[in-house]
Amino acid sequence: MLETLQVDLKDRSYPIYIGLNLAYGELLQKALPQKRELMIVTNDTVAPLYLDKTRASLSAAGFQVHHVILKDGESYKTVDSYMQIMTALIEAGLSRDCALAALGGGVVGDMAGFAAATFMRGVPYVQLPTTLLAMVDSSVGGKTAINHPLGKNMVGAFYQPKAVAADLQALDTLPRREIAAGMGEVIKYGIIYDAEFFAYLEQHADLSALIADKAHLIAMVKRCCAIKAEVVAQDEREGGIRAILNLGHTFGHAVEAYLGFGTWLHGEAVGLGMILASYLAMHRGLVSREQYQRICALIARCELPVKIPDGMTADDFLRLMRHDKKVKNGAIRYVLPQGIGRSAVYSDISDAEAAAVLTQFIKEQA
Ligand code: NAD
Ligand code: GLY
Repeated sequence: MLETLQVDLKDRSYPIYIGLNLAYGELLQKALPQKRELMIVTNDTVAPLYLDKTRASLSAAGFQVHHVILKDGESYKTVDSYMQIMTALIEAGLSRDCALAALGGGVVGDMAGFAAATFMRGVPYVQLPTTLLAMVDSSVGGKTAINHPLGKNMVGAFYQPKAVAADLQALDTLPRREIAAGMGEVIKYGIIYDAEFFAYLEQHADLSALIADKAHLIAMVKRCCAIKAEVVAQDEREGGIRAILNLGHTFGHAVEAYLGFGTWLHGEAVGLGMILASYLAMHRGLVSREQYQRICALIARCELPVKIPDGMTADDFLRLMRHDKKVKNGAIRYVLPQGIGRSAVYSDISDAEAAAVLTQFIKEQA
């Protein structure tokens, strides 16, 4: 079973392969036609599961394969890990005709992508995502980054991969909580862009059934990637429409920062963030109460948190949201749904309005 999509970006276009037990070597031969030296970047959770198999497939296809194993976790998405990749590349004697392969979730993908963007001023790379979140979101679209102690994803580049190959077999070993977190981003696509897909998820998004049914998973990942590819093709560097992909992220980042990064998973924070954005949208008359309730119900069914953490106030949100990269000319920019299946960016929401809505939400959840 192999599905193929294309991200259309002129000379930087690339394929997305989605399937089961993918032959990475064969697929990457097409994306990286010269028999290159290839550095696999992975981490110490994914390596014992998938490194040998991936190395074997790439070696059999004629690549000279090296690897570097980073420590697992968002807290290692740092300049030190980035330097570890650089050191591995230099020590292996690799030059400008090498390529990188990111084997792992979004953390590995973002770091390997940034390393590829900057090693010798840029070498090609491919994404081999192994989490649901990475398959439906972070591996596609070319956003790469590492964190700075003062902010998440503060140092990075837009740099597109040469191919993405998502082997859904990898989800068999992914913890259920991580699958749920990935569903946060999946639901996002339905809310911002595709009402039919949202309704499809309402019919199918029972986590246990989802994990069991690979055909359904493939169809779901494919639809998410198609939407992301369509949005990125229109606006690669987030000058306009691409910002809708950040639904829930402004509120979500505030929750992640408040609790300390890593306490809630990114997709969990995005799930609650989407509820808060929808609640704000309801107060602006953009979303009906029935639509708001459908959004909350789907997020809850995917086993994502739906309540603001104990003790977190409207003031905490505003203080933390002001640090977000998406603040422009002093205004916090909110992505809000317009019903289900459409969304837009709003820069006219005052802190007073946001605070009032958040305070009311907190009161209602008590
Ligand atoms: P992650 O990379 O931390 O992976 C989650 C956990 O699952 C990790 O412990 C990882 O080692 C483990 N894991 C990965 N694959 C596995 C498998 N098949 N079996 C068992 N365990 C496995 O987290 P994530 O949710 O994939 O990504 C989150 C990151 O992605 C954040 O840093 C976020 O900023 C970034 N992100 C980037 C973009 C983008 O457009 N570039 C978009 C969304 C999120
Ligand atoms: N995850 C948001 C984006 O890729 O633009």
